[in-house]
Amino acid sequence: MRAVDIIIKKRDRLELSDEEINFFVQGYVSGEIPDYQASAWAMAVLLNGMTDHETTALTLAMADSGERLDLSEVAPLAVDKHSTGGVGDKVTLIIAPVVASCGLPIGKMSGRGLGFSGGTLDKLESIPGYRVNLTKEEFLRQLKDIGIVVTGQSADLAPADGKFYALRDVTGTVPSLPLIAASVMSKKIAGGAHAIILDVKTGIGAFMQTLEGARELATLMVSIGKIANRKVAALISDMNQPLGCAIGNALELKEAIDILHGHGPSDLREHCLTIASWMLVLGEKANTLETAREMVEDAISQGRAWEKFRQWIRAQRGDVRYVDEPERLPAARLIKDISALQSGYICMLNAREIGETSVGLGAGRAKKGDSVDHAVGIIVHRKVGDQVQKGEPVFSIYANDEHRLTEAQERLLIACQISDQPYPRLPLFYDVIPYA
Ligand code: URA
Repeated sequence: MRAVDIIIKKRDRLELSDEEINFFVQGYVSGEIPDYQASAWAMAVLLNGMTDHETTALTLAMADSGERLDLSEVAPLAVDKHSTGGVGDKVTLIIAPVVASCGLPIGKMSGRGLGFSGGTLDKLESIPGYRVNLTKEEFLRQLKDIGIVVTGQSADLAPADGKFYALRDVTGTVPSLPLIAASVMSKKIAGGAHAIILDVKTGIGAFMQTLEGARELATLMVSIGKIANRKVAALISDMNQPLGCAIGNALELKEAIDILHGHGPSDLREHCLTIASWMLVLGEKANTLETAREMVEDAISQGRAWEKFRQWIRAQRGDVRYVDEPERLPAARLIKDISALQSGYICMLNAREIGETSVGLGAGRAKKGDSVDHAVGIIVHRKVGDQVQKGEPVFSIYANDEHRLTEAQERLLIACQISDQPYPRLPLFYDVIPYA
């Protein structure tokens, strides 16, 4: 078999066999297939799609590119959660300690920023010392000892996803339904969780911009989960505007800390309470969403979720002084407010534009392997539907470079639109694809 023939076959819209998919995935992971061929193949998949059978085969090949964990050894029922990526999405930082503090073990492999969307690992690395490259043994031990662990795709676990993910980020091949489904589900299957909640984003700032596309992705991932013998449910949530107010690594971490202390933006809090409640139901800690919600609200208000967060950060060698006193976290040199040019009602906060602006400030990567600036980003002071007076701040830019600050300013002026008529608020969730 030759990689070039597999690329040509996909270019010509033919269905790949399981053997061809396995060959390509294994060859890329071993280094026999170079980045340029993998890029061409990923672009052919993006343009021509895959059948559900191909996507399932790709997912399983990627899950089997390294070791598969069996969490049953350390937790009778462990959960995981994954978001398809968005702007201001710091949900994992909040719900992981919340559900773990409710007695439901959570073992999770997260990703880095991808395109305009942020990544949990980059946010966690704002904390000096935090380790994102745990071995399998460390992952299992920590899950057993404290019921919470969040790591990256190490060499042991789903290495194919780590490699493809970084490649797609810089080759314009992120927004492909089969590649997203395989990326998400391969990590989840290799991670070994028994129950998985998927937060599938839709809107301008999501890889799946239409509700129809998001439903298709969610349904496919739920069915791949079933084939792999996992309990999977998906929630479809809004990503037209950023989630919460903070965009950028340390800024988002600070906002997550606020929520764990019972403060923070109400949309983010409500989103997290909903996701965490679903996890408790799927993980059989609660029979109904109502009971689950009481449990998660209690975990936050009684401080148990916060204590679990500290325990988790310490276990992964993060310096806990930085979360106890978030003012120690990386801080930008330059802060500039962007004010409303007219009075009225916010009718658009373009999540994609805001996410790309944040990447332009240095919060994300322009090319594979770039480092990120943890300090920079954007605070959004208003949400869609809010009233604003001319001259009031809509955004604050956090930058470390004058030139990038000026560019961000220009972009954000376009990202926000104000109407003189009242404008409805955006929903948080649109649909649920339940476990069947
Ligand atoms: N999240 C992932 O894990 N993979 C993708 O491809 C997109 C979002």
